[in-house]
Amino acid sequence: MRNPLQFFSNDIGIDLGTSNSIVYMRGVGIVLSEPSIVAFNTETKELLAVGTEAKEMLGKTPSNITAMKPMRDGVIADFEATEMMLRYFINKVHTRRHRFILPPRIVIAIPSGITNVEKRAVQETATKAGARAVYLVQEPMAAAIGAELPVGKPVGSFIIDIGGGTSEIAIISLGGIVVMKSIRIAGNEIDEAIVEYLRKKHNLLIGERTAEEIKISIGSAVPLQKNELSAEVHGRDLIEGLPKTVTLHSEEIREAIKEPLSIIVNEVHAALEETPPELSSDLAKQGLVMTGGGALLRGMDKLLSREVKIPTRVPEDPLTAVVKGTGEMLEEISYLKNYRF
Ligand SMILES: Nc1ncnc2c1ncn2[C@@H]1O[C@H](COP(=O)(O)OP(=O)(O)OP(=O)(O)O)[C@@H](O)[C@H]1O
Ligand SMILES: [Mg+2]
Repeated sequence: MRNPLQFFSNDIGIDLGTSNSIVYMRGVGIVLSEPSIVAFNTETKELLAVGTEAKEMLGKTPSNITAMKPMRDGVIADFEATEMMLRYFINKVHTRRHRFILPPRIVIAIPSGITNVEKRAVQETATKAGARAVYLVQEPMAAAIGAELPVGKPVGSFIIDIGGGTSEIAIISLGGIVVMKSIRIAGNEIDEAIVEYLRKKHNLLIGERTAEEIKISIGSAVPLQKNELSAEVHGRDLIEGLPKTVTLHSEEIREAIKEPLSIIVNEVHAALEETPPELSSDLAKQGLVMTGGGALLRGMDKLLSREVKIPTRVPEDPLTAVVKGTGEMLEEISYLKNYRF
């Protein structure tokens, strides 16, 4: 054990994501992973469900219940709902023994593009939800630490995290971010492009959840050679207003999502153009590491390797890189003083 006191520690790291929230407990590891969704009674504001249970309710609630995503584009869109969600997570991971000791210190990963006002909002929300001290770390830095890149060394590390709300690109050297890009084009925009395509090309209306399912089941960034896929999708016919089923092919979905993917590729290009030449040559050698759920899109690594001419790889579990990074920071508590907001 690195530190005998850590047995008594209840400090946690949180990847408060637009799509998923993951919690890491110091000395333990990942203790919770849930969709960032809350359901509450619209009149009394009583919390009804959080996470997977609330996701089941999305788009299917009667007027007295609201099921919603409190985070949008990587930042807090609804403070009250975010606080409810954070408090629920903190209580869920803290056992009775933990409640006898000090309230937790919390490291939270935030998108690198957020303003000071938005940072303050995250900090206040976490404090209200029960944190003793709050440390904020930029999401791509946490992702790079979690993916075990040599961030502290005088060598360029290149990371892209494609989440639900934001795509974050960073070039890191000597413990700091040298070039950073954050765009609000990521998984959700890809889903929206699918909704839009089906509306235009098939007169079919589908919801966000269905679009996400199509993306995950048959979505791709580059041709799949002999393995092109197809899936049936159910929605509502826009003209007749009745339920309708359409068979979709992966080629079509690739066409549908071309635009958001090319915006992401262009942003990676732009980051490279701003990189000092000494670091550029490192990046070509070290490669680009892709994390976040978007890294799981079929062929996304191939598309980036081809378009920016830098080998791209995905770590074993790209969805947990950010929270593992916050966890690493908790284990090295002295690290944290630089991140106190
Ligand atoms: N197999 C897959 N193929 C394509 N996309 C996927 C796959 N699995 C998950 N995703 C997408 O990844 C996104 C969620 O990723 P992640 O959990 O990293 O986001 P987040 O951290 O919650 O969001 P953000 O960092 O933007 O706040 C969703 O848009 C989801 O649809
Ligand atoms: Mg994320």
